[in-house]
Amino acid sequence: MMTICADADELAARAADLFVQAAHNAVAARGRFTVALAGGSTPEAMYRLLAQAPRREQAPWADTFVFFGDERFVPPGDEQRSNVGMARRALLDHVPLPATGHVFAVDTTNAPRAEAAAHAYANTLAAFFGRPDPSGPPPVFDLVLLGLGDDGHTASLFPGMPALHVNDRWVVASPPGVLPPPVDRITLTFPVLNAARQVVFLVAGDKKAPALAAVLQNGADPSAHPAAGVRPANGTLTWLVDEAAARGLFREPPRPY
Ligand code: 6PG
Repeated sequence: MMTICADADELAARAADLFVQAAHNAVAARGRFTVALAGGSTPEAMYRLLAQAPRREQAPWADTFVFFGDERFVPPGDEQRSNVGMARRALLDHVPLPATGHVFAVDTTNAPRAEAAAHAYANTLAAFFGRPDPSGPPPVFDLVLLGLGDDGHTASLFPGMPALHVNDRWVVASPPGVLPPPVDRITLTFPVLNAARQVVFLVAGDKKAPALAAVLQNGADPSAHPAAGVRPANGTLTWLVDEAAARGLFREPPRPY
């Protein structure tokens, strides 16, 4: 499903409302809401709206459990470059989430390399979701938020990278793509993204138009445009895009004469 918003502000508002609705649905059905946040500037606007009235009061924070779809391999204190740092500034430090046991950041503290942090995060997921083997059937998030890079990447699944072809692990490390900062990444893999009950892409801005058109084209190759590999097996896929990003989707076909 695709919703075309007038601009990035409307997209952020719709995404925040969708988050609140998904949270209530999950808590009503299963007593808790598990969400994997995206990094980047597009979701940040949505997070800021979630941290303000009325949505701040509407969301079931006491039953919400926050994870990350990807993370930069930077020291824990590097709040400027990490996705958890952005999420804390924009959202997590401003809503009544219980003080412990509700935010699961990728731990880069003792990891000598991104691979170690990825392995540790997979074990974090296995423990939370009660799965003994972090390479078996993937955990099922209620909601996964994703952005889209100008190059068609999503999370930290970058074009041409080995992480695109990993189907037996939930979390892997990846060298940096073209996205700054130029640091290694830790990312959820396609099996986890595609196991989610609901996946929502947030795509705004003129610069995203070529990538969005390429990703949504029939037969798009996930190796070249990784976001095309996000196809939830049993969940729903929603594209929240603004008009600028959508401009390439409905280009008039060339006239025959
Ligand atoms: C990150 C994100 C990344 C982001 C896209 C889109 O680590 O920055 O996970 O995948 O979602 O690059 O970012 P914008 O929303 O800022 O365009």
